[in-house]
Amino acid sequence: MNADRSTPVSGRARGLRMGTALAAATLLTLTGCANPEGGGADPGAGSGGQQVTRTQDAGGPGCALGQYGVDKVDLTKAVVGFSQSEKEANPFRIAETASITAEAKKVGARLITTNANSDLGKQISDIQSMLAQGAQLLIVAPLNSEGLEPALRAAREKKVPVITVDRKLSSAAPCKDYLTFIGSDFVDQGRRAGEAMSKVTGGNGKVAILLGSSGNNVTTDRTSGFKDYLKASAPGLQIVAEQTGDFAREKGQQVTEQLLQANPGITAIYAQNDEMALGAVTAVRSAGKKPGTDIKIVSVDGTRNAVEGIIAGDLNAVIESNPRFGPLAFQTAQKFYAGETIAPTVIIQDKSYDSANAKAEVANAY
Ligand code: AHR
Repeated sequence: MNADRSTPVSGRARGLRMGTALAAATLLTLTGCANPEGGGADPGAGSGGQQVTRTQDAGGPGCALGQYGVDKVDLTKAVVGFSQSEKEANPFRIAETASITAEAKKVGARLITTNANSDLGKQISDIQSMLAQGAQLLIVAPLNSEGLEPALRAAREKKVPVITVDRKLSSAAPCKDYLTFIGSDFVDQGRRAGEAMSKVTGGNGKVAILLGSSGNNVTTDRTSGFKDYLKASAPGLQIVAEQTGDFAREKGQQVTEQLLQANPGITAIYAQNDEMALGAVTAVRSAGKKPGTDIKIVSVDGTRNAVEGIIAGDLNAVIESNPRFGPLAFQTAQKFYAGETIAPTVIIQDKSYDSANAKAEVANAY
């Protein structure tokens, strides 16, 4: 287990920091403008990379402190646990953990972090262990959309609220098993990837899909959004193959090599994340073809490497999935403890990159 603890500060200093951080986060949400999260080469930073919400009222009446039945906590003195789902070889995961770590520091909370390394059993024991270490609030990036029940039950027994980020729990209930979900509209990401694919191919071609890992709503939603768009608006794009690349670069490369051998007529690849797309770029080149030209490539995430890939002409378009959940997660917790009702679903606004804006926007990528 990996434990990160923020530098101790006085209660008053913590309160001031917390107030400043929350005021900034509130302003961002209200104005919808994009502000830097932090400076330097931190992968969780990047100018203009801050998350902004698009919808805060989806999915039900919302949840207040009394209804959820958990204890009120002063975040400036709290122990907060963050459960990361996948290993930090992917810039999405690095940026997500960095954002939560940075915000915990700003707020003054003491953060414990764990990484499940794509093992659901480990994520359950990670969460149980953070509860045993005294976590009073949990931020969880679920590996799968189902199966976390033992961990959620343990949190409920200890009256510890759970904020889920980035992947959605499908069988758990808001305001009972967890407080809220903060993340992207993944169906819309798939739809926008379909739209981008139609644009870069002229609406015709043979498409291979590199699916994300199974067992989570991100993969199923990015698939259905893409397929529905093609069916309704780009019937000239024919899906000839689909196989999982597990959201990993190496697997994306291996799977693309196999798919290109079995289907030499493939003219386009929809990769459900940037890491698989970058693996596909290598495989396309090894097959003697020019990525971005002979085979168009569209993906999802918005990593620095992928946006640079657009500038280099290897990738054609990227739909953003913004992992910088720190400010919004802590702001949501603060509102909850202040007595506000929290919506069960908080949807963030994601941008997109293509050859028209990649150079101007690359600084915002992670
Ligand atoms: O859940 C979000 C997805 O998971 C990201 O697109 C991907 O990079 C990650 O592994």
